[in-house]
Formats: sequence, C-alpha cells, structure tokens
Amino acid sequence: MKAKELREMYLAFFKENGHAVVSGASLIPENDPTVLFTTAGMHPLVPYLLGEPHPAGRRLCNVQKCVRTGDIDDVGDVSHLTFFEMLGNWSLGDYFKEEAIVWSHGFLTSKRWLGFDPASLSVTVFEGDADAPPDEESRGIWKRLGIPEARIHALPKKDNWWGPAGTTGPCGPDTEMFVDTGRPACGAACRPGCSCGKFFEIWNDVFMQYNKTADGRYEPLRQHNVDTGMGVERTIAMLQGRPTVYETELFAPTIEAIAERSGRTMAQDSETTRAFRVVADHVRSAVFILGDDRGVAPGNLGQGYVLRRLIRRAVRFAKALSMSEGFFAPLAASVIDGYKEAYPELERNRERVLTELNEEEAKFEKTLHRGLAELDKVLARMKEHGQAVLPGRVAFRLYDTCGFPLEFTEEICREHAVDVDRAGFDKAFEKHREVSKQGSDRVFKGGLADASESATRLHTATHLLHKSLRDVLGEHVAQKGSNITADRLRFDFSHPAKMTPEEIARVEALVNGAIERDLPVSMETMTLEEARRGGAIALFGGKYEEQVKVYRIGDFSEEVCGGPHVKSLAELGRFRIVKEESSSAGVRRIRAVLEPADRLVEREISALTKKTSCCV
Ligand code: ALA
Repeated sequence: MKAKELREMYLAFFKENGHAVVSGASLIPENDPTVLFTTAGMHPLVPYLLGEPHPAGRRLCNVQKCVRTGDIDDVGDVSHLTFFEMLGNWSLGDYFKEEAIVWSHGFLTSKRWLGFDPASLSVTVFEGDADAPPDEESRGIWKRLGIPEARIHALPKKDNWWGPAGTTGPCGPDTEMFVDTGRPACGAACRPGCSCGKFFEIWNDVFMQYNKTADGRYEPLRQHNVDTGMGVERTIAMLQGRPTVYETELFAPTIEAIAERSGRTMAQDSETTRAFRVVADHVRSAVFILGDDRGVAPGNLGQGYVLRRLIRRAVRFAKALSMSEGFFAPLAASVIDGYKEAYPELERNRERVLTELNEEEAKFEKTLHRGLAELDKVLARMKEHGQAVLPGRVAFRLYDTCGFPLEFTEEICREHAVDVDRAGFDKAFEKHREVSKQGSDRVFKGGLADASESATRLHTATHLLHKSLRDVLGEHVAQKGSNITADRLRFDFSHPAKMTPEEIARVEALVNGAIERDLPVSMETMTLEEARRGGAIALFGGKYEEQVKVYRIGDFSEEVCGGPHVKSLAELGRFRIVKEESSSAGVRRIRAVLEPADRLVEREISALTKKTSCCV
C-alpha cells in the first residue's frame, strides 16, 4: 500500500463511521503563540476541543502536515522525522474510549482495511499517578479485542499522556499502538517505547478529559474528547515491510537524487546512512515550510530560524557526503514532484521555495567554510594532545569572529567525543563585554571606537533604529548622540514627547523586519554634498571631511558614517528597546539590545515539544 491509498482509506473509514473530512491547516499556526509550527492534527482544533462548536460537527477526521524539531538530533535513526503527515480522527464531546479503540483496532487489523496481523501489535496504556488514575478502561477494551495482557504495557505520564505542545490546554491519558518489526529485541527490557527500533509506534489515541491550567492543575474538561494521530510515514513503512521510514516511495526520489549527486549508496556505512537520512529529512521539511501558503523565509527569529537551522544542517550533512554546492534545488524539486498532487501548494510556491533554498545555501557556504576549517584545525590539535574538552574561549572565538553557531560547534565536537566547555563560553562572552565596555564609550567621525563584532552589530542596528524612528515619529527626528558598548546601544534624538508603547513596538517591528529580510549592507565613498543630494542622512553637519562614506542598508537606510558595519543583517539577532526616557529638553534617549537569535529560539524550541509521542 502506498501513502496515497493510506490517506484515502483512513478518511474513507472514518467517513463511514460518521466523521466529516476537514482540511488540514497551515504548518504555520495562526493566533497561537505557544508553538512555532503545527505539531499535531489537534493543534488547529484546540478551540473546539475546549468547547467551541465546530461547523462540521462533532466527529472530524483529516490529514495534517506537522513539523516537530524537538528531537532533531535523533533524525537519522530508523523512525524520527522533523516533518511528517498525521492522520487524525476527533470526537468533540461525542464518542470516547470504547468507540475510539474499537475503530483503531478495526482499521488496523481488518482485511478490508490495513490488515495488520493482530499478533504483531502491542499497545501501551497510562499507568496512573497523583493527577489521574490508571487507565483500566482502555486496558479492558484492548483485552476484550484480543490483545493479550503480555502485550498491553502500562507506562507513566512521560510516555502515555498527551499534553498540548504549549504548557496549558486540553490533555489526558493516551493509548499508543505499536507494530513489532520482527527485529531481535535489544535486551530483556525491550518493549514498546524502547528506542532500538524493534517496536514502531504508529498510532496514538488520546482521551482528553483534563484541562491543564497555567498554575499546573488538571481540572476536568467539561467535554470529553478523543484526539488521535497516526503517522503516515511510519505506517506505510510497516505496511510495506520496510525497517525504516526512509525506504518507501515518499523518500525514494530524494534518496535517489542524493545518491546521484554524491556518487554513494545509502547503505555504504552507518555514517553515510545517517547523512543520507538527515539530508532527505531536512530538505523535505524545508520544502514544506517554505512551500506553505503562509510559508516563512529563513531568518533569525522563530520559524525562520528553525528553517534556517534545518537548511544549514542539511548543508553540513551534504558536505559529509561530498555533495557540491547547488545540491539543494534538485533535491527540493524531487520533494515537490513527489508531493504536489497531495499538496498543491508546493507546486504553486515552487519558484519561491527553490530561490530561497539556493540563496540560503550559498549564504551559509561562506560562514561554514571559515568556521569548519578553523574548528577542524583545533580538533586535530586537541587530538594530538589528547585533550577532550574544547575550551570555552575557543568556542566563543568561532562564534564571535567566524559567525559559527555554537550549536554546530557542540554538535561537531560530540561527533569527535569532545565536550564543549559551555560555562567557559559564557565566561568568555561576559569578559568580552567587559573589555569592550571599558574603551568603547566613544563615537568618532560618526564611526565606532569599539570595532568588536558585538559593537559593530549594534552600530548597524543604530542606523536601522534611526531610520525607523524617522519613519514612525517624523522627519524632525535627528541624532543627538550615540553611545555603543559591546552589549547595548544608547541613542539620543530630538523629539518633543515621550514615546507611546505603540510607537516603541512599531519601531522595533521595523528594525526587526529589516533584519528578517536580511538586507545587504554596502558602502560607497563620495563627497558630503553628493551624499546629501542623494538623500543620505548626514549626522554631524559640516563635521565630516569632504570625502565621506555612505552606508546603505538595502532600500531601508542610507547614512553618512565612518563604519564599521556588519556585512549581513542576518548576524544581528533580535532587536529590543529596553528603555525610552528623557535625556534633556526636547531630547529622548533609547537604550536597546540585540539578543542572539539562537538562544532565544533554543528556548522556544525546548518549549515546543516536551512530550514525545506518536510520530516524533
Ligand atoms: N495529538 C496526539 C499525538 O500527536 C494524537 O500523538
């Protein structure tokens, strides 16, 4: 059975049982700040699970595209994917455990439907804790359907409880279904839930009977719901007798394209296998994120950052396979071609997907080149001296001067069984700030005294801020002073009134918008007069020499300045105004910072998926 048939069969089965087929939602959630991506079919349905009537009724089913990056490091094993399709059926205060389990069992084992051998199935149920009792009801139903006690396993909350991706909302115990792949057990304790790959989890029925409140309580839900999720990739792998999710028609064209461009075969050795899988997985996820009608571009924040990380990781693993630059587009095309029938938006957005991927690939090539070469040298030297911990200051140097992400340093080091001294990294970061602070409170010739990487970033941000203030408050805004240290900028400007919170938010949004667009920064030398005529902001009247440098940031800002500035706005991270206050009569003062996007997003990512469950 192919994925196409599985999707159709699933919907047909639940339609027969009174469910309305509804469309899947965008991968980019709407009005939900708790997650970056749609992580499960239930996610767009939260208001209805909480009691809001759904226009299609109380029994729903669909196919939902999902992205989960919480377990990105596990991608490369037999079953973990960052993008997957989830088949789901829902009861909104209608049927509960009895019907849900009977239907799951029927769809899995009936010859008319999937026809799995019942002897290959195991299930898990919730074992109970202080918040909720053991789920004896589900156990009883499975037993009655013929699953013997020995294949019904009771597991704790971390395995058999589904909470929403955010921290609050509808939740409850679940029962998960596994197919035994027939592989030998990895040990005496091997059972469903074990990561060795013997048991493949393919479906999860969640019985939502609680609402988790912000203070951590589980209050009974007024309406009892069922929320289920079946992983398409895993289920067809099992139906086709394949030991991994990468060996079905869904991945075949991409794997083939990788083999062609790398001149290798996937099964060559375990490292090659992993690299093939990581590249295939990440390319597919990137295509779906970019190809969504609400698709995001690579950037430094939120979804854009996750996308950038997926692309950059794919580039890194492609390099391990000796694939040369420009590999992304043909691989992405294989994904679009394979999926365009089921997901026509990919075809609609083909051009954008390919262009963005090409650009991001090229951009990252440059950063990577410098950082990797440097790290390789360091690791070789460490090996010679039998050193197993990369000093924090070295990791910091890579980060600060090569723009090489700390997470990459950590990942590459892990592969060499080398630890990174994270505390040392933080210390180096702090020290650098201190040193820069001491000698940096000077701005000369409109340029920057402290030319450290961090101060340079803030310097470029100052230009963005200046222009944004003029856009939001008016042309009367003129710079009255600028003071930049390695950890913050301070900017004084003429304006008669305190800025309102809305004005502050608008200015931040304009600056971050420019950063997100990753506008190019360029410089030209000309006379002050030419600069003024061309419309550049010239700060200090006649103080400039005749020949001046004009820094242009895309179509956003043009300013006479001594520099230095960053080359690419992507390095800036996220801009935030910390304070707005009076400086002197008619002059306001802003303090603002740039927050490293990677840290910010790490926090977001770890909040994204706490519970590992079906399909992760
Ligand atoms: N929402 C449940 C899951 O993702 C069905 O496992």
